[in-house]
Parts: sequence; structure tokens; C-alpha cells
Amino acid sequence: MDRRKPSSCSRFTLLLRNLFIAALAYTFVVEVLHVYQTGTISPFSKGPPKKSTGKNSKGGSLSGGVNWRLRPTTLVENINDAFMGKRPDVDTNANYTKLIEACRGSLNGLEKMRNVYDCLDYLTHHQDDYFFMPENRPSAADPSYKSIEDAASPSTHHIGDCPGPVQLYHTYWTGPATWRVELFVKAYLYTQNIPCSRLHIWLESDGFPNAVPDMMKDPLFAKFLPLVERGDLVLKAWKFPRRIPLPKGAIAEDPAYTKSLAGKGSIRRTSGDTRSPKPEVYIADGVVRMEDGSEWLVLTERQMTFLPVAVSDAVRFVVLHLYGGVYMDMDVMLLRDMRPLLLTPDHNFAERWAVHSHPGDYNTAVMSLNANSSLSSYLVRGGIRMGLNFHPRIIGRMAWKDGRSEEFAMFETGLFDPIWGEFNWGREGRCTVPCFKDYGVAFQGTKGAIKDEWESYDGEPLSERVYQRELELRSRISDLPLSSPEEAELTSVGALAMERGDVDVTYGGKPYTLKDDKYPPNNRTLENFFRGAWSYHIHNQWAKHPQPNSWFDVAQRAHDGFLQGTRRNVYGESWTGPDIPAYDRWPEFD
Ligand SMILES: *[C@@H]1O[C@H](CO)[C@@H](O)[C@H](O)[C@H]1NC(C)=O
Ligand SMILES: *[C@@H]1O[C@H](CO)[C@@H](O)[C@H](O)[C@H]1NC(C)=O
Ligand SMILES: *[C@@H]1O[C@H](CO)[C@@H](O)[C@H](O)[C@H]1NC(C)=O
Repeated sequence: MDRRKPSSCSRFTLLLRNLFIAALAYTFVVEVLHVYQTGTISPFSKGPPKKSTGKNSKGGSLSGGVNWRLRPTTLVENINDAFMGKRPDVDTNANYTKLIEACRGSLNGLEKMRNVYDCLDYLTHHQDDYFFMPENRPSAADPSYKSIEDAASPSTHHIGDCPGPVQLYHTYWTGPATWRVELFVKAYLYTQNIPCSRLHIWLESDGFPNAVPDMMKDPLFAKFLPLVERGDLVLKAWKFPRRIPLPKGAIAEDPAYTKSLAGKGSIRRTSGDTRSPKPEVYIADGVVRMEDGSEWLVLTERQMTFLPVAVSDAVRFVVLHLYGGVYMDMDVMLLRDMRPLLLTPDHNFAERWAVHSHPGDYNTAVMSLNANSSLSSYLVRGGIRMGLNFHPRIIGRMAWKDGRSEEFAMFETGLFDPIWGEFNWGREGRCTVPCFKDYGVAFQGTKGAIKDEWESYDGEPLSERVYQRELELRSRISDLPLSSPEEAELTSVGALAMERGDVDVTYGGKPYTLKDDKYPPNNRTLENFFRGAWSYHIHNQWAKHPQPNSWFDVAQRAHDGFLQGTRRNVYGESWTGPDIPAYDRWPEFD
């Protein structure tokens, strides 16, 4: 075949074409990473987090042409904070079967799996159906528990008494505290049964040996130090344990070990370990039995050198095996009391991976296990055996193959991550309230940013306050003589502004006008934020901050109002603990 040598000109076009393809591929990769990190395709959601300057920005600046200090925080006349009614009794249990069947349907049909609207509706309106009081009340199980009447409520220095067993909550974090740590902790304080809960924050310490002391000195985390002292929050150093205890008999019943146990017949001694005075024997691959009969998983030197990249995937399994309770990723925002789910005797559960229909496709962003149980031992051993791979879908499929997924309840996305089904056109039935099509929108406060967010809201629109009068008064407050006839009306607005330290309530003489505001007040309240769900999963987006009057901003104000004693939480309770400072402001939105 006649192959002509390319001329230098065509070589040049070839080079140009290749460069063009390379640039295209680069842009694509960057965009995919961006979408992965931020959850949106908007290139404007980027930007490294700016440090908030908090209190010291006096005077106010322009935010889309208006003074942020004059911006009303809501349009709703009477916010109903206590929309959940009374907190479930300390002994309340949840019936997993009912929760699963109402939100999934039958095991093979999965008829309801994609209908999150109906699931949330059931969770909201049929509490009586899925909550019940067990015959053997947990609060009566131990005579040392205080009775409900005698239990002290929390105070500044005392967390209060739990009239029953205390539940553990775990999360995991690497690096300094950020706004997201604050959101997680405040949502926890806002919703959980405080005397009956403890939050363990596991800090990555294999690579950062000073993680715990560093956090104790962290300027943002300083807000929570009174709660560390009171015992609500426990900072724990996470180091991958070299040995993990197993309950008796866990090895003998594991199908993966039966063969090796039988094959070996007798057991062999460990060699060369002269430091340990106790004789110990390897009874199977990676498992030793001590003289006292206890069995331990032992990691090899090689395994300790190549700890998993996805540490957090492993942490949850190991921590729940050792301590029990519930694990939640830091990007989960709690909305309801988890206690009824955790008090259930076999509280082993995780969530479904989006709307995947495979019975082994778990997601472990929210997961609970009974400590030292046969199931927790099995799962930890499985992950270690597979080369320290704890990816939830790998572990889940293993459990399913071994016939153990029935012990490990799989809750539908409506319980913990109500919008996951929106993706890949997975949803059936109506959209949720609010209707989100994108994980990024909860941060957005700009006018019209969330299209049709109320499309599934059937209630009466909340009564909106007319701010015109107040706004007008605010804009004139500094020019009016004190003895004016409008004084009475003015004092309240003025007092409010003074209280916040606003001496100048105008910006360069410019009054606040609703229509010029880029982040205008609106009718969002937590009452209509995925009501019924136990949590909302933010899915990463670690560097983003909430715009004024976004859903997360609405949540922030509810949290702060509660922690500062001016508002109640979803159960109508008031905070009686130490003062917890408010969220910082994000001047990037001024
Ligand atoms: C939970 O619900 C299932 C299904 O409706 C029912 O059969 C079972 O008795 C319930 N369990 C308890 C403890 O109420
Ligand atoms: C689990 O077992 C270990 C070792 O036997 C023990 O130290 C620990 O207290 C147990 N944890 C729980 C929550 O029972
Ligand atoms: C909020 O306002 C929109 C119209 O702007 C309305 O459709 C919706 O029903 C309102 N939602 C509530 C909870 O009042």
C-alpha cells in the first residue's frame, strides 16, 4: 500500500487535533470530579471555603444591592418548630418489618421501593403503626436506671439521667473541624434524646497521631468544648486495631472457617512471639485463641502496613462490632430521634444503595449493629479476609451469598436519604416535599433557584407576614425623631436591630427592598423538609456553604434558635445545656 509520509503541515494539524482531544478529555475529567465533589454541574459552586469573619463585620454590606443586616429571616408568620409532637417514650421500639414492608413492598416485588413520597407519608402519619412499646421495657431491665420521674434533666454541667440504656452514636472525621462538623453536631443536639445518647467522634489518628489534642484546640470546635466536658461528645482516636475480640463460638459457626478448622485438626502454636506471656494459638487463618478461651482476629504485619484507603468504610464495621450503636457519616443531617430504631433488640440495619434491587446492595452511610454479635463478627471477618475491603456493596453481597442478609435489615432510601431515588429516573409516584432534583440545591438561597420545590406540597400555604411596613420602618429608623407617633412600633424593630449590634440599619442610606434581594426570605421551614425521614444525606460537597435563606440556612437558624433558648426543637423541648455559640456567617454571600 502506498503510504505517503505526512508533510510537516499535516503533522502540525495532527498535533493540534491531539492537543484538542487531550484538552477535551481533561475538561471532562475535571468536570466529573467537580460534579462528584459538589453534586452539581454548575461551575460557580466551586471556590475554596472562605474563612468566616463572624461577629466583627460591622455595618453590613451589599448583598445583591441590599444590606444583609436588614434581611428578614423568614416570611412565615408563625413557624411551627414542634411539628413532631412529643418525643417518643424512652422505651419506644420500631417495628422493622413494618418499616421495610411499607417502604419496600414484598421481598421479590419491591413494589414500593421507588415511591419515596408514599414512604415519607407513612412515616409521618402512621407512627402508631410502626412504633410500639415492648412487653419487657428496656428501662426496667436494670434496677440502676432512674425512673422517668426521678431522672434529672440536662443542665449546664450535667448531661442528665437516662431512664434506660444509653445509646452510642459514632461518626468519623479527618482534619480540622469545619462548618459540616458543626452542622452534624448541632443537628444531633437538636433532635436526639440528649441524656440517653452519646456521640463518639472518631478522628483519624493512624496518619495524624495528634488528631484528638488538635481537635481540642480547634477554633471552630471550641464551640462544643462544654459538651465534651459534659460528656455528650467524646473525641476518640481512630487507630486500626491490630487485634479485634470475637465473641465465643463466632469462628466455629462461620462457614468460611469450618473447613480450615476441620482440616487442621489440632491447633498450632504461634511461633516467635516471646513478648506475650500468654500462650496463644492460631486456630484458623488470622484468628487466634488465647489460653482463657477468647478468640481474636489478628491482622498481619502486611495488613497493618497496607491499611485500606477507604478507612472510613472499615471504621464503621469495626467500631460497631466493638461498641454497638449507630454509625453515621458526617454528611448525614439528623432530622428525628433515632432511639426507637436503636432500642430494638436486634438493631442490625443499613440502607439500600439508591434504588438498586439487589438484596446485597447496601449503603452504610447510616448503619447499626449489635456489638460483639455473631453478625458483627461475621462482617468484620469478611472485610478483613477480602483484603480489608469494606466497601458496603462488596460486604453486602458477601452477606447475601452466605445467607446472612436477612439478619441485616435493609431500609429504603426514604428513611435516611430521601432524594437518592430521584437520580437515574428512579422515582415512581410523586416527588418529595421539598422536591429536589439535585443534591446541590439545599445550599441555594437565590430566588427561583429550586424549580417547583413545592410541587408535591398539598397543605395550605403557610401564612406569610407582610414585611413592607416593618421594612419601611427599618429603613427610616435612623432619621426619625424619637417622639414620633410611630415610636411604639419603631421600638420593637429598633430594639431588634440594636440587640444585634446594628447601629446603622441602612447601608449608605439604601433601604432594604425585598425585590432587590438576591437571597430573599421565603416560606421554607424544617416542618416541610423531608418530614418523616430520620435523616437527610448531603453526599459530600464538603467545601460548600449555605447561601442565606437556603434550606440549610433555615436549618441553621432552627438549630441556633434552639441552642440559644429562643426556639424549641422538633419535639417542643427547650435546651437546658451550656451556651453553644451560633454558626458563623459566610461573608462571601454579602
Ligand atoms: C411487627 O410487624 C409485623 C408485620 O406487621 C408483625 O407480624 C409483628 O408481630 C410486629 N412485631 C411486633 C413486635 O409488634
Ligand atoms: C465486646 O467484647 C469485648 C471483649 O470481649 C469487651 O471488652 C467489650 O466490652 C464488649 N462490648 C460490648 C458493647 O459489649
Ligand atoms: C410557599 O410558597 C409557594 C409559592 O411561592 C407555595 O406554592 C407553597 O405552597 C408555599 N409553601 C408553604 C409551605 O407555605
